[in-house]
Amino acid sequence: MQTGSLSANQLNFSGGPGALPESVLQKVQESINAIPGVGLSILGISHRSDWFQNVVSQTEKNIKSLLGLDAQYHILFLQGGATQQFSMIPLSFLEPGQTADYLNTGYWSTKSIQAPQYGQQFNTIWSGENSKFNQLPHNDNLNFNTNAAYFHYTSNETVEGIQFQEIMGLDSVPRICDMSSDFLSKPVDAQKFDLIYAHAQKNIGPAGVTVVIIKDSLLQQANPKLPGFLNYATQIKHHSVYNTPPVFSIYVVHLITQWLIKDIGGLTAMGQLNNTKAQTLYDFLDHSHGFYQGRALQKDRSMMNVVFNLPSLDLEATFLNEAQKLGLSGLNGHRSIGGIRASLYNGLSLEAVEQLILFMRHFQKTMTQRGET
Ligand SMILES: Cc1ncc(COP(=O)(O)O)c(C=O)c1O
Repeated sequence: MQTGSLSANQLNFSGGPGALPESVLQKVQESINAIPGVGLSILGISHRSDWFQNVVSQTEKNIKSLLGLDAQYHILFLQGGATQQFSMIPLSFLEPGQTADYLNTGYWSTKSIQAPQYGQQFNTIWSGENSKFNQLPHNDNLNFNTNAAYFHYTSNETVEGIQFQEIMGLDSVPRICDMSSDFLSKPVDAQKFDLIYAHAQKNIGPAGVTVVIIKDSLLQQANPKLPGFLNYATQIKHHSVYNTPPVFSIYVVHLITQWLIKDIGGLTAMGQLNNTKAQTLYDFLDHSHGFYQGRALQKDRSMMNVVFNLPSLDLEATFLNEAQKLGLSGLNGHRSIGGIRASLYNGLSLEAVEQLILFMRHFQKTMTQRGET
């Protein structure tokens, strides 16, 4: 089986950490022995070395160039995952007496709203809870608070498989977005955002690092009293090396951004490829005569996480078992909702999606012949 990695013998459809491109894994493997031209292992090189400082600056530059960001934006590589941002954002930008607008569109935005609030006021202006998070709102149907300290939403709900097709919010209120599961997967008008955060382990690297992009005008409003580690301004002053950063993870993000620029040809090309992967799978679901049923409303379907159900829980269990035996790994839905989820992050090839469809077609045929539908 074509694996998408050097030593793995399974295709990785997991919700995350996701598949990484083979050419990048090859470079990573080489660098574990010795970084070319440096002679030290990536696992044991000083974060204060000139080489690593250069990796950080180069990765900042690559992200800026991929997203078309100008000098008003700072790029950070932080620890604590996206979850730490759920708290760091209100701690930094929400003063007592102020409110912030949130959209509750699924499992992960619910978590962002439940983050420790220390008395801060979050205002949920829309919730998809009643429709089991299978759809998203549009700007036209929302009542934004023009006095909010900021507006927060999640661009792609990884668990439910729904993704915004438009940029949400008002231009007059700082716009903050959790892009953990669709960051650098397609073009986006990034300058419309005041803060973007995304952990690496879906589309751009391994776990351990979270990219934060912050506009200078928002940074100026941050609470200056937070301790250094939780303080965006301090982290920026130290170029993400305030304390020992996750050197390895940042290095892999560096390699992925190079791959996106040089091998893929930028975010337009990446978006087209991701779109083809997802459309191929959704088309197959939609022509399966109801055997495979997509969970999300068609208009809000995610290009990253294709979530669907089979006619019964038993069939879903058999499906997962058979898939695993054939090397199709990580297809189980999130533990909170069950079902099946095929995650199609940047590193997963179109060939992998085609292999999945071959299996699904065969599985449907066999089960239908056995009368198990
Ligand atoms: C959209 C989104 N936000 C936040 C998180 C939480 O990320 P972390 O585990 O890095 O804290 C996840 C995890 O999968 C996610 O998909």
